[in-house]
Amino acid sequence: LISQKSMIQKMNRQLPSSIVELLKAIGQMADERQHPIYLVGGIVRDLLLEKRNEDIDIVIEGDAIVFAERLVQSLGGTYKAHSDFGTATWITETNYKIDLVTCRTEYYDAPGTLPSVKASNIREDLSRRDFTINALALQLNEAKFGTLLDYFQGQHDLQNKQIRVLHSLSFVEDPTRIFRAIRFALRLNYDLAEQTTQLALDAAHMVKLISPHRLMRELKLLAFEDHLCRGIEQLDQLSIWEELFNAPLTVKRTKMLNSLKEHRIQDVYLYLLVFLTDRNGEILRQYALSSEHQRLLDELHELEGQQEPFYSFGSAHKQLHNIQDKSLLFYSIREDDEWIYTYTLRRSQLIPLLTGNDLIENGLTPGPLFKLILFQLACMQLDGEIDTKEEAIEWLNKQLSEK
Ligand code: CTP
Repeated sequence: LISQKSMIQKMNRQLPSSIVELLKAIGQMADERQHPIYLVGGIVRDLLLEKRNEDIDIVIEGDAIVFAERLVQSLGGTYKAHSDFGTATWITETNYKIDLVTCRTEYYDAPGTLPSVKASNIREDLSRRDFTINALALQLNEAKFGTLLDYFQGQHDLQNKQIRVLHSLSFVEDPTRIFRAIRFALRLNYDLAEQTTQLALDAAHMVKLISPHRLMRELKLLAFEDHLCRGIEQLDQLSIWEELFNAPLTVKRTKMLNSLKEHRIQDVYLYLLVFLTDRNGEILRQYALSSEHQRLLDELHELEGQQEPFYSFGSAHKQLHNIQDKSLLFYSIREDDEWIYTYTLRRSQLIPLLTGNDLIENGLTPGPLFKLILFQLACMQLDGEIDTKEEAIEWLNKQLSEK
């Protein structure tokens, strides 16, 4: 176990001195009431890994809200209490945000119900957490400042680059941890411990219970860390897509995911759509959490219902101009429709030959006709019928003289 002295050295090296001073002051304040107090979670892990992290999460064996109030009285700043959870956020005068939580244990009155929470000690608090590397704590009380608490061999797993759950029901209690396990493994370039992989496989069917909102959130976090495609693949190895949508990662789906990535599509909903075909329209809607996603579904539906083949890009434009690029792109990738793909590309690269000002200069008065003329020009341009401004003006004059 790393010594108190080396831990303090690490803190001094990696954290701004203002944060170290703040942590010391917090420890001393807790001493006054004889409350054991600890720095916990990601920041402790990242101190050991020598990675930057300034998210300060603190756990106290005492009332977190009362303590936040005392901090404000003595050290200034403001605090927000979250009474339903017994937690508080202290915003210091120098604008650090510090989360304070009372040590707690969650216990389940019955399977499937929300957990009840009761006050407990640091060991119990750490034991309800997800992985050993996240269940480390650093004591902040003055006499023990910088002492590492490692009840679950977190340091050992950091050295061996392993993601390991603390107990066999971890994924069953919270199946989103399967997504977290993959995210941490990819972020840190670690492996899931053998037994943890088995437990994830055993709990894979539980992912059906994750709300669309939480699932999307986990996927966004994966995407934010730029591991979405690899994450989706690794989740597939744990049968997650099979369990969720009855849709394992086939060669075709892998190809689609890679295409989306190549096109720098950021929206994770589109990656999810790869697994959801028109057979499960209802599921599609459940995961469409924003009006933008609803629109995407409507547009895909419209494209699927397109009966007549298009005879030119211009004619396609007349029907498809309102459909967003990303819907067209997704459709063309899914259906392997190169024609729609080319249309989408041309359309997005189109530089208008004339502007409203050009029309005014040619004697027209602004009005609804402008939009029609410019649209017609865009269609002709897509069809290659006109290529230059001169040709566009010539066409315009011809139209005007025919009127
Ligand atoms: N936690 C958990 N189960 C979850 C989510 C979180 O046990 N489903 C615990 C973890 O132990 C984690 C702590 O709550 O350390 C805080 O969660 P979060 O802020 O998501 O994790 P960090 O470890 O701080 O991750 P990051 O580095 O991404 O901020």
